[in-house]
Amino acid sequence: MQSSVLLIHALVVLVCCSPLLVTGQAAAAAAYTPQLAPCPAGFSLVRDAGTDATSQTLSQGEREYISAKQSTVLPDAWTAYLSSVEGTTSASSLPAYVSGILGGNYGQTAYPRLGIATSGGGYRAATFGAGVLNALDGRNASAVAAGTGGLLQAATYLAGLSGGSWLVTSLAQADFPTIPDLVFGTGTSDTTGFGGWNADFGLIEPSNDTIVNTAYVLEVIEEVEGKHAEGFPVTMSDIWARTLSRHFANGTDAANFYDTTVTHGAGITFSSLPNLTTFTTYVQPFPILLSDSFSPNENTSAYANLEDAYVPLTNPIYEINVYEFGSYDPMLGAFIPTDYLGTTNNTICVTNYDQVGFIEALSASLFNEYNTSVTNSSIAELVEVMEELIPESDIDYTVGIVPNPFQGLHPDTFIDTDETYLQLVDGGEDDETVPIQPLLVKTREVDVIFAIDAVNTEYNWVDGSSVIATQERMAYFTGTYSFPPVPPDNSTWLAEGLTERPTFFGCNSSTASGAPLLIYLGNGAPPLGETTAYTNTSTSQLSYSADELEAMLSQTFDIATQGIASETTEGWEKDPEYASCLACAVVDRARERQNISRSGLCASCLERYCWS
Ligand SMILES: *[C@@H]1O[C@H](CO)[C@@H](O)[C@H](O)[C@H]1NC(C)=O
Ligand SMILES: *[C@@H]1O[C@H](CO)[C@@H](O)[C@H](O)[C@H]1NC(C)=O
Ligand SMILES: *[C@@H]1O[C@H](CO)[C@@H](O)[C@H](O)[C@H]1NC(C)=O
Ligand SMILES: *[C@@H]1O[C@H](CO)[C@@H](O)[C@H](O)[C@H]1NC(C)=O
Ligand SMILES: *[C@@H]1O[C@H](CO)[C@@H](O)[C@H](O)[C@H]1NC(C)=O
Ligand SMILES: *[C@@H]1O[C@H](CO)[C@@H](O)[C@H](O)[C@H]1NC(C)=O
Ligand SMILES: *[C@@H]1O[C@H](CO)[C@@H](O)[C@H](O)[C@H]1NC(C)=O
Ligand SMILES: *[C@@H]1O[C@H](CO)[C@@H](O)[C@H](O)[C@H]1NC(C)=O
Ligand SMILES: *[C@@H]1O[C@H](CO)[C@@H](O)[C@H](O)[C@H]1NC(C)=O
Ligand SMILES: *[C@@H]1O[C@H](CO)[C@@H](O)[C@H](O)[C@H]1NC(C)=O
Ligand SMILES: *[C@@H]1O[C@H](CO)[C@@H](O)[C@H](O)[C@H]1NC(C)=O
Ligand SMILES: *[C@@H]1O[C@H](CO)[C@@H](O)[C@H](O)[C@H]1NC(C)=O
Repeated sequence: MQSSVLLIHALVVLVCCSPLLVTGQAAAAAAYTPQLAPCPAGFSLVRDAGTDATSQTLSQGEREYISAKQSTVLPDAWTAYLSSVEGTTSASSLPAYVSGILGGNYGQTAYPRLGIATSGGGYRAATFGAGVLNALDGRNASAVAAGTGGLLQAATYLAGLSGGSWLVTSLAQADFPTIPDLVFGTGTSDTTGFGGWNADFGLIEPSNDTIVNTAYVLEVIEEVEGKHAEGFPVTMSDIWARTLSRHFANGTDAANFYDTTVTHGAGITFSSLPNLTTFTTYVQPFPILLSDSFSPNENTSAYANLEDAYVPLTNPIYEINVYEFGSYDPMLGAFIPTDYLGTTNNTICVTNYDQVGFIEALSASLFNEYNTSVTNSSIAELVEVMEELIPESDIDYTVGIVPNPFQGLHPDTFIDTDETYLQLVDGGEDDETVPIQPLLVKTREVDVIFAIDAVNTEYNWVDGSSVIATQERMAYFTGTYSFPPVPPDNSTWLAEGLTERPTFFGCNSSTASGAPLLIYLGNGAPPLGETTAYTNTSTSQLSYSADELEAMLSQTFDIATQGIASETTEGWEKDPEYASCLACAVVDRARERQNISRSGLCASCLERYCWS
């Protein structure tokens, strides 16, 4: 961010002398503006999802999607994954129950239910997550050869937050392309197709030319003017939304990046994604994004016992899926339809608020972490520019704002029951950077969570802190969620090397405890004894060349397929049993439901890969 200081100075100077520049005339401004209309007859905004974990309910849309996916997509997806595993040499030693369960011998209800969670950590996390998904993708021949390809297609859920939300959202809205097509584009995009992540254009300063960057920031501010004029608060998160949209939504490629006559993804709503082909055919894992809330009423004694927590663990965590926005946390247990995000009553309905860029920004807004009273910080300066151009009273420009649809609900437990607005911030600000919470919601019946962690600590390698924070949060919600035991301090994670190899947690917990099995894959070290590390770039690196991304994806592929690698006289070797061991973990809860004992290769695999 430091390098934007000059730019912002330039901006302040420019703006002071030509106030008429900002008029909200950009093509994207109209497309970004929410619309108000009378609500449909008999409309009821809020759905009570239940505050008691044993009786919570899913939306009708999600229920139907999951059930149709289970009957139409999962049988072939599990068969394809199984044949990918069986293509590896060690698979002949697998106990018969693995092929029995995945082959459908026990029926569709006996399949494992898999959820993937991909972490925050900026572009680094988006890219590491993309590399792991690529290694799990049945469309990638190398992944199939490694015996891991096909798990992505067999996953029921895909959760993301912050940098992970950029990955999940861009993938979902581009109709589920392969990872190379997602990251680099196909070279055939236009103003409606997906042009790739455009990562060589910086997220805040796309150009090396200050004049170009200044015009760019002004353009982006102009694009949120329509929303403001319609009476909705706009903040840094809206600016961020319009920026992210040029990278992680359809409508922008290298050729039209600065073209002000195209909408750059404005108008694409999250709730419209069910119309895409890979949704109507149930091919996509069901996407879920997370956002933390930043409340004036929060309990400031309930932070995670780690560094850098900005949000207490007891604040509600909000999720956004294509059907609903709200929280399953027991203090709230309520949702509204995502297409009516922005609405607060049953009379006047707001639509077009749930723009994909804005949803990504809600999940990835860290601006409240900057001290905006330090007047020489770039964030402070940008806030100053906004205050001047878009004056609003009683609005915190550093958070994402959603009109509060849950006013008056659960006054005894819901801290924001009296607030006009929900203040949403980066989903990792409570230190839980891997978005595990939605996969612990009991009614979703997730058996196994594949957690991808690329949050930053020292040298930008992980240390288990995100999962430690999740374990700490569980202590506040014992009746609601179940989570397998993990080491409570990062020194154990690091000393035991749990971040440098896939580690499984919860192998001893029985299904009776309700805790899913956790497959943890961290960005903890370069792969296979490589000495040059490419995957631990800084969160503040906001642009990447194609070569850098290729190098990261390639190393991530090895990290995701090596298992517990070993050093031999020939050099480093991937664990030849890893694909089988992973399959053992994937089916383990389903095995237990069938009252089958763990045996053979699966017994030795889990002994090696499980933390105990
Ligand atoms: C499969 O993944 C490898 C490793 O990242 C990559 O080099 C290759 O381009 C991918 N192939 C396809 C078809 O996506
Ligand atoms: C985005 O573009 C892809 C093609 O690149 C297309 O298949 C998909 O339907 C588009 N998504 C939206 C929301 O327009
Ligand atoms: C900006 O400059 C760097 C270093 O000179 C160069 O690698 C990069 O391609 C330039 N970026 C753009 C968008 O021109
Ligand atoms: C899906 O497409 C149909 C037909 O074009 C349209 O009427 C409907 O509004 C769309 N649904 C969403 C959620 O955008
Ligand atoms: C705030 O959190 C602390 C630590 O968990 C707890 O002891 C205290 O009771 C909480 N206070 C309120 C008002 O909930
Ligand atoms: C481990 O956690 C402590 C306390 O949060 C922190 O100070 C330290 O930097 C962490 N270690 C690493 C290697 O990240
Ligand atoms: C309902 O919401 C609309 C849009 O925010 C607002 O203008 C209107 O005053 C609200 N009506 C009531 C009765 O609160
Ligand atoms: C923010 O900066 C001001 C001015 O340096 C300082 O007085 C204040 O304590 C800082 N606030 C925080 C929360 O660090
Ligand atoms: C802001 O000013 C302080 C004190 O003069 C200085 O230490 C700090 O480096 C400056 N920060 C930036 C971002 O320029
Ligand atoms: C990446 O890790 C290597 C080895 O641990 C370290 O030397 C390097 O400084 C790290 N890079 C960044 C950007 O943190
Ligand atoms: C497994 O055993 C439990 C307890 O004996 C029984 O209730 C359940 O029906 C059995 N499940 C299967 C699939 O046989
Ligand atoms: C799991 O069970 C094994 C064998 O009973 C035991 O050695 C191990 O310590 C247990 N692990 C945990 C995490 O409880």
